[in-house]
Amino acid sequence: MKARTALVTGASKGIGRAIAKRLLDAGWRIIGLSRGTDATLSKHARFRTVHTDLLDPNALDTATREILNSETGLDTLISCAGAGRFGSLEQHANRHILDILQLNLNAHILIARQLLPVFKTQGRGDLLFIGSEVALRGGRFGSVYAAAKTGLRGFTRALREETANAGIRIMLINPGMTRTGFYHQTGFTPGDDTDNALLPRQIADAAWLALGSKQNCVFDEIDLTPLKRVVKKQR
Ligand SMILES: NC(=O)c1ccc[n+]([C@@H]2O[C@H](COP(=O)([O-])OP(=O)(O)OC[C@H]3O[C@@H](n4cnc5c(N)ncnc54)[C@H](OP(=O)(O)O)[C@@H]3O)[C@@H](O)[C@H]2O)c1
Repeated sequence: MKARTALVTGASKGIGRAIAKRLLDAGWRIIGLSRGTDATLSKHARFRTVHTDLLDPNALDTATREILNSETGLDTLISCAGAGRFGSLEQHANRHILDILQLNLNAHILIARQLLPVFKTQGRGDLLFIGSEVALRGGRFGSVYAAAKTGLRGFTRALREETANAGIRIMLINPGMTRTGFYHQTGFTPGDDTDNALLPRQIADAAWLALGSKQNCVFDEIDLTPLKRVVKKQR
């Protein structure tokens, strides 16, 4: 596959970092968008971090505009940043609910909205979103997070139809439990057995498969889950 330029949200950790690394290894240029920086990726000559808090729509808008003004050849979005917050609905404060929706749904839509006119003018572009298996099967104590991810799934399916004639591919990967820092704030982790969680690089493999397919072929949706689903409560 010809090397390209991608904006990767959430490239500082976990799944986004694994995808960014995979694309860098293949010769791509990567602009990582997150609050923090990964020490190893940031040393790479073809990697640049733009620090932004996606909870702030204005900051997101400014950062995306700056990237579009300064980068030539941007033709791929990996929209990955997100965070899971779990608990019964009434345990979430209103502010908390709005933040979950902002990060896991609104931010994905707002960035796509800014990139699409540029991609349409180019007549090509790939937008690959990281959803979740909770959009397919729900999840106990994850109602707000599930609402965001289900909304993201509906958004991508509709956008796929809207943009196809402009040469834009819209793709969604729905991972199941994957061993990342995602579980630092969830109150549980995947069970220790390797069968209970995927590794971030397995999601990167799926992303690579989707991005590398011939331009006339769209991996609309990829669902991948660990063999087992045993979880361990955190103390
Ligand atoms: N791990 C799983 O089991 C699993 C399963 C299904 C779906 N997912 C999805 O996969 C995606 C990546 O999650 P992960 O597992 O890789 O988790 P992770 O290791 O915690 O990484 C999350 C990434 O999102 C970024 N992020 C979080 N809040 C942000 C904010 N306010 N502003 C900007 N960036 C922010 C983080 O960067 P900074 O902290 O540096 O800002 C980090 O790069 C998420 O959309 C998640 O919902 C994960």
